[in-house]
Amino acid sequence: MKKFIAPSMLAADFANLQRDIEMINSSKADWFHIDVMDGMFVPNISFGMPVISAIKKHAKKTMDVHLMIVDPDRYIEDFKKVGADILTVHYEACNHLHRTVQAIKAQGMKAGVSLNPHTPIAVLEDIIADLDLVLIMSVNPGFGGQSFIENTYKKVQQLRALIEFSDSKALIEVDGGVTDQNIEQLLEAGTDAFVAGSFVFKSENPSKTIANLKGLVSE
Ligand code: DX5
Ligand code: ZN
Repeated sequence: MKKFIAPSMLAADFANLQRDIEMINSSKADWFHIDVMDGMFVPNISFGMPVISAIKKHAKKTMDVHLMIVDPDRYIEDFKKVGADILTVHYEACNHLHRTVQAIKAQGMKAGVSLNPHTPIAVLEDIIADLDLVLIMSVNPGFGGQSFIENTYKKVQQLRALIEFSDSKALIEVDGGVTDQNIEQLLEAGTDAFVAGSFVFKSENPSKTIANLKGLVSE
């Protein structure tokens, strides 16, 4: 099955955004990972619609938008308008997750649900068949550059088993602290999509780093 590398734009140089977007366009990356933080669901504030529109103007790859905001239902249409292809909400931020997922799909986007490190896979049992993607947080959301939580491997394996058992088509994405040191073990556990922020953008040659990561997860 195809594997996806998704560099996180949170770690890009915002003063050179177009340069970093073009780098990803011409690299082996598959998706643009876009982190939206509201200062409520997570302690940090990142960026909103005008910046996402600006990214979309130049981006030639899938826009993978990760919402770390409370009550995301308020903005589903707006994220469609600014160019989201995949829209992921947090399980912990939704009171009526089934409704939220259907609303995302009704806008013609792929629907994802993300779980914080403390949230067990079992909460997805009754929604997994409706999902296009599950994003497992391998750090506590809010900041780039944190270290990877080892318990993630076990969660990916449990999720893979649930997906197979439920005949779901959901992709498994892992986000936070992904490097060339853990990506192969994540692949082995059953991960499909790998988000990498600091490891890509803080490296000397980001495009080469992306190619290396892609090489490690491709047959
Ligand atoms: C964290 C974000 C991540 C972050 C990953 O809340 O969801 O996408 O940008 O950054 P690194 O790869 O630096 O952990
Ligand atoms: Zn993210």
